[in-house]
Amino acid sequence: MTSAPAPLRLAGLCGSLRSGSLNAAVLATAARLAGPRAVLTVHPDLGRLPFFNHDVEMAGCPPQVVAFRELVGAADGVLVASPEYAHGTSGVLKNALEWLVGSGGVVNKPVAVVTASPSMTGGDRAQAWVRETLEVMDAVLLPPLLIQRASARIRDNAVHEPEALEGLRSLVDALTDAAGKMAADEHF
Ligand SMILES: Cc1cc2nc3c(=O)[nH]c(=O)nc-3n(C[C@H](O)[C@H](O)[C@H](O)COP(=O)(O)O)c2cc1C
Repeated sequence: MTSAPAPLRLAGLCGSLRSGSLNAAVLATAARLAGPRAVLTVHPDLGRLPFFNHDVEMAGCPPQVVAFRELVGAADGVLVASPEYAHGTSGVLKNALEWLVGSGGVVNKPVAVVTASPSMTGGDRAQAWVRETLEVMDAVLLPPLLIQRASARIRDNAVHEPEALEGLRSLVDALTDAAGKMAADEHF
C-alpha cells in the first residue's frame, strides 16, 4: 500500500499589522483553500522583526529573524499579501523581505503576491513594488492577484465574494502546483 504524499509547505507573509486586516483575511482564506495538498503557515507577526540592519545580520541574527528565515527557507512556496500605503507596500513587508535577501530564502522559489485594497485599483502600486523587490531576490513569481474593493468582498476574516474567492483559489492552486514541481525536481 502506498502512503499519501506529505503535504507541501507554503509560508504566508502578511504586510499589514492591523487587526481586521483585509490582507490577513486573504491569507486565512488561502490557508483553508490550500488543503489537503499543502499546509499554509502564516507568519504570526512580521512586526516583531527588528528593522533590517546589516551590522546585526553580520554579528548574528536575533531569534525572531532566525525563526522567520527558517519558516520561509523550509517552504516549497510563499504567498505574500500586501496592503498599499501611500502608493507603495508597507514598511513592515519591505523590512521582512530585506531580512530574506541574505538567507536567499526565496531564490528560485515560487512566490505569489496578492494585494487587497478597498480602492478600485486593488493595490496595483504595492503589487508592483513587491514584485520588483522579489524579482531582484530571484523569486519565481506567479501572476499577480489584485483584490479591488476588498472591503466589500471580505467579511469576518474571510473572502466571501465568489469572483475574488475564485481568483484566490486559482492562485493558491497555481502556487501549490509550482511548489510541488519544485519539490519534485529537488528530489532528483
Ligand atoms: C496611511 C494610509 C495610506 C493609504 N494609502 C493607500 C494607497 O495609496 N492606496 C490604496 O489603495 N489604499 C491606501 N490606503 C487604504 C488601505 O489600502 C486600507 O487601509 C487597507 O485596508 C489596508 O490593508 P489591510 O486591510 O490589510 O490592513 C491607505 C491607508 C492608510 C491608513
